[in-house]
Amino acid sequence: MKGFSEKIETVQEYYFSAKLREVNQMIADGKPVINLGIGSPDLAPDPKVIEALKNTAENPRAHGYQSYQGIPELRIAYAEFYAREYGVSLQPDKEILPLMGSKEGIMHVSMTFLNPGDEVLIPNPGYPTYASVTNLLGAKPVYYTIDLNRKGRPDFESLEQTDLSKVKLMWINYPHMPTGAQGSEEILKELVDFAKKHDIVLISDNPYSHILTDAPRSILSISGAEEVAMELNSLSKTFNMPGWRVGMLAGRADWLQKVLKVKSNMDSGMFLGLQKGAIAALGLGKTWFEDLDDLYKNRRKLVWKLADKLGLKYEQDSAGLFVWCQVPEGKTAEEIVDNLLYEKNIFITPGKIFGSEGNNYVRISLCMPEFKILEAINRIKP
Ligand SMILES: Cc1ncc(COP(=O)(O)O)c(C=O)c1O
Repeated sequence: MKGFSEKIETVQEYYFSAKLREVNQMIADGKPVINLGIGSPDLAPDPKVIEALKNTAENPRAHGYQSYQGIPELRIAYAEFYAREYGVSLQPDKEILPLMGSKEGIMHVSMTFLNPGDEVLIPNPGYPTYASVTNLLGAKPVYYTIDLNRKGRPDFESLEQTDLSKVKLMWINYPHMPTGAQGSEEILKELVDFAKKHDIVLISDNPYSHILTDAPRSILSISGAEEVAMELNSLSKTFNMPGWRVGMLAGRADWLQKVLKVKSNMDSGMFLGLQKGAIAALGLGKTWFEDLDDLYKNRRKLVWKLADKLGLKYEQDSAGLFVWCQVPEGKTAEEIVDNLLYEKNIFITPGKIFGSEGNNYVRISLCMPEFKILEAINRIKP
């Protein structure tokens, strides 16, 4: 054997892939671990979604390979969702590409646009996959910070002082994971102008648009965005379907065609039952989102209580599935995370896995029922 790819030395196994092995081992050893680490919605999808999956699975003719672009009804359902939820008009046959989760889209988009040596703007803190994929392709992450006092506005002023000549792509993510910064229409407008000025492809990763937000927003609703921006979206968080692996990419037809060129060499379409379930989910009305928000609001109040007990600081004006907490002076995030895991059997995420700007933070997930969060609170002494 003549060795592995040099590129795999640029990445580590995904934090949760390794950490959850340890947590699961603790559970197997009989430890009552409460997992407030990962953002995997714990609730079921709507019954109509399950019904659509079941009905399709029972059809003997539904088990063949599927279209590389998803069935037309799924693309139409996405287009209707974008029109209804964000006021964005998309052509279902040209401007929408269904994906198996949005995570795979990060790789496909990066493979479509990047050459070794290209630079990519990535938020710090931010979703670790943007940087790993960039590194795997021999491109270079260039980190930008966001201002949590200004809804997560990128630090455009320092970006303008940077040499951006090699920057080809910029990842943005509002509502922002892990901080919960909401973003705003103003910020999205600034981003579109910035991308145009510097000839950068803007990729908006938008899986949290409907979770505890003031308004669902899409970059594609900004005038002129269609020339410079594409958007990834996902059913994972919005419809409690993370294990289904259903997402999409929307934007310019000519760019989408190139992404399809990459993607169609990697998978052979998505099981029809999943597509039918996704169509049912995308058609759900306002009450689905309202009910979900009510539930997460109640959980978030309890997570704030837990954070208070731990002496952590957090912003109440935040969106998404997590509470982002600053650790008090004199303590480190690792200390808090390890103490909680090994002494109280409560798993939360250290902020450093999202980048250096996360070093003094921890992230607590809302994906646990209230009684479990209460139990976690009770495990901490006053
Ligand atoms: C910011 C962000 N982007 C993308 C994803 C991937 O979501 P999925 O692949 O389930 O659509 C996640 C999942 O946690 C995320 O937090």
